[in-house]
Amino acid sequence: MLAAATATLDRNWRDGYTLPSPNLYPFQWNWDAGFIALGLAHVRPERAISELRSVFRGQWRNGMVPHIVFHRPADNYFPGPDVWGTDQVASRPAGVRTSGITQPPVFAFIVERISSLPLGRTAEWEAFRREIFPSLVAQHRHLYRNRDPLGEGLVYIQHNWEAGTDNSPVYDAALEAIDLTHARDVSSLRRDNRTVAAAHRPTDVNYRRYLALVDLFDACGYRDAEIAARSPFLIQDVLFNSVLARSNLALLSLARELNADAATVGEIERWYEKTSAAINEKFWDAERGFYFPYDLRAGRRIAIKTASGFMPLFARVCDAAQQRALAHHLTSSFAPSAAWLLCPSVAPDEPTFDPVRYWRGPVWVNVNWMLHHGLRQAGLNDLAERVRSDTLRVLGAAGRWEYFDPRPGIDPSALGLGTDEFSWSAALALDFQCNPAAF
Ligand code: DGY
Repeated sequence: MLAAATATLDRNWRDGYTLPSPNLYPFQWNWDAGFIALGLAHVRPERAISELRSVFRGQWRNGMVPHIVFHRPADNYFPGPDVWGTDQVASRPAGVRTSGITQPPVFAFIVERISSLPLGRTAEWEAFRREIFPSLVAQHRHLYRNRDPLGEGLVYIQHNWEAGTDNSPVYDAALEAIDLTHARDVSSLRRDNRTVAAAHRPTDVNYRRYLALVDLFDACGYRDAEIAARSPFLIQDVLFNSVLARSNLALLSLARELNADAATVGEIERWYEKTSAAINEKFWDAERGFYFPYDLRAGRRIAIKTASGFMPLFARVCDAAQQRALAHHLTSSFAPSAAWLLCPSVAPDEPTFDPVRYWRGPVWVNVNWMLHHGLRQAGLNDLAERVRSDTLRVLGAAGRWEYFDPRPGIDPSALGLGTDEFSWSAALALDFQCNPAAF
């Protein structure tokens, strides 16, 4: 397993950064780079810093870290840099092309996790922590200043691609509210559904909506305030805000360790406290015992059970009763029997559950990694171990696929979906195996 995972990372390495998958995602992706850096820190430590530096080379002057950095041209992906139209945006850094949206801010907690490894005890890493700290603060500040219009401590995403959980059914209603009268048909431009099975990818009508949003952002010059005023899609996402809360905690430790000035430490403390409290105030549904995202435009909670609802465990914001309620869901609605693979991205009892279509049911390794650590923090050690061993078992039997069919009764070697040789699946297999420490 270790050799195979390392081989995947070596294969996808491109002189300074790692492609999530050369055939499906031929550039550098934001949160992928965070998880990949963690895997590299175990087996190719000399590359981990380079991975992180490369993705931050794309950081905009307003602090936003774009979801794709197009370091070098590739023609096997849509939408590429010309479609995003960010070349004219003043905030974009010189010399590198990027998309115009962001992804869950994983970097602060990745830096914390790497700090506990042998690489983390080197002078080079110490210097790198000092180098990256201001960029991390700028990233979080951008989110709080531009994506939290009500000052609640919860930031919104502008696009389902910002959540990372791209075609999760929680975004369906907001996407369906997009007026497609003047939207272009992009079905013939897509490359993804020719590279991997179309049944594993988002539908054409959804891609049309995704691109309608990109075109709107381009028309708004990527100005957040204008997008907030005009876009039908403004969602406060549970995974995104939980990742932000966990990263705030990591950033706070880092600020203290680096003796940052009192004003910055105070600012990060306020971010952490406000977001942690708001996750429980706005996302927690006491009746159902689960966390749900909130549609700011429609003014309502989106009551569909997805694996993102477990991420407040990772953010360490749940009390004992909430932990019990989540554990109950994990072993009932998310696992109709003990033979199901944990954790499906959508609960199998939801009408929108689809066991093979991307984020509408399949199991994802990065979500399982955050879930495992969240369960351990809550003292739910048996469940945490089940998530870890399910993940390693399927990676061992099927290979380092992008996502996995959670249903029982299928030959384990046939459970892999999407693209094979997927970098973060390899990277997190390495952390699962090589670092038993809780996090
Ligand atoms: C894709 O192309 O599917 C990516 O997830 C978008 O970021």
